[in-house]
Amino acid sequence: MSEDSIRELVAGSLERIRAARTLEELEAARVEVLGRKGALAIAGKEMGKLPPDARAAFGKLLNGAKQTLEQSYEARKRSLDEGALSRRLDGEWLDLTLPAPGPRRGHLHPITRIQRELEELFRSLGFAVLDGPEVETEYYNFDALNIPATHPARDMQDTFWLEGGNLLRTHTSPVQVRGMERLGPPLRMIAPGRVFRNESVDASHEHTFYQLEGMMIDRDVSVAHLLYFMKTLLAAIFHREVTVRLRPGYFPFVEPGFELDIQCLICGGPGCPVCKQSGWVELLPCGLVNPNVLRMSGIDPGEWNGFAFGLGLTRLAMMRYGIDDIRHLQGGDLRFLEQF
Ligand code: DAH
Repeated sequence: MSEDSIRELVAGSLERIRAARTLEELEAARVEVLGRKGALAIAGKEMGKLPPDARAAFGKLLNGAKQTLEQSYEARKRSLDEGALSRRLDGEWLDLTLPAPGPRRGHLHPITRIQRELEELFRSLGFAVLDGPEVETEYYNFDALNIPATHPARDMQDTFWLEGGNLLRTHTSPVQVRGMERLGPPLRMIAPGRVFRNESVDASHEHTFYQLEGMMIDRDVSVAHLLYFMKTLLAAIFHREVTVRLRPGYFPFVEPGFELDIQCLICGGPGCPVCKQSGWVELLPCGLVNPNVLRMSGIDPGEWNGFAFGLGLTRLAMMRYGIDDIRHLQGGDLRFLEQF
């Protein structure tokens, strides 16, 4: 093979490379020219047929040709790559001035909202916010609240019993006991939390719901103090003055015990379907702490007394937002939750 034919081969191959209009055409050209069975490889085999003194010069020529073609190939490839990239960028063009859909924002559950409002209110009145375990002992849930095993009041609360005599707390009242033991008198505390009852579920009964327990222990606490705090609490919840009344109610841990009613917020007294024509709605049980309860937690009832109340947070949320089925609250259905 002569030098001239090599030069010809180079010129033809350069032409071929430059003419490639796509990366595929270029790859085909590369295989033909630079590939293992390509034109240069074939020319390389000719070298063996040359006389030894001509081989070095021919080899140099071939190497030069290879370099030239490789450079040309790389240059063409770069330019085709850039073209492909800019075509892709054109195709994927985004209008960054279009308004974005905006992040989806969640919000607090209606019960959490009421709970936090009340925590803030009671903190401002000097109350500590306490927490207690949901798995309780019989002692804290019943005995220390003046409900011994033989007491019929145990049947008022259908209990989920656990192995080893423990239970799921049926009310937040056990946190009163823990508060008295830990902090002693004088004491102002509330305890919001989840409670459990072994009940069949319907529109107004859930096995899991929320209460907010409150307790104040000091010297010479009276029903007037209880009423003052309850009215302050209700004004904060309903954003207006609320008329209340006390009816006698029985709970072993208070004496006297009351049911506190509020004047119906819908009709204001004359009677409507919400208050079942009575003009009053039952809101929360409360009372003056039974001396036995104080004594069992190491507080001298001769020196201290107090009031306690148990607010149904779930019930309150239902009243405030007009929710007619308790099952919605823990159901997790977004169509319900997104309304708040
Ligand atoms: N723990 C009672 C219940 O869940 C509610 C209750 C009544 C709490 C009277 C109190 C109270 O603190 O004084 O049925």
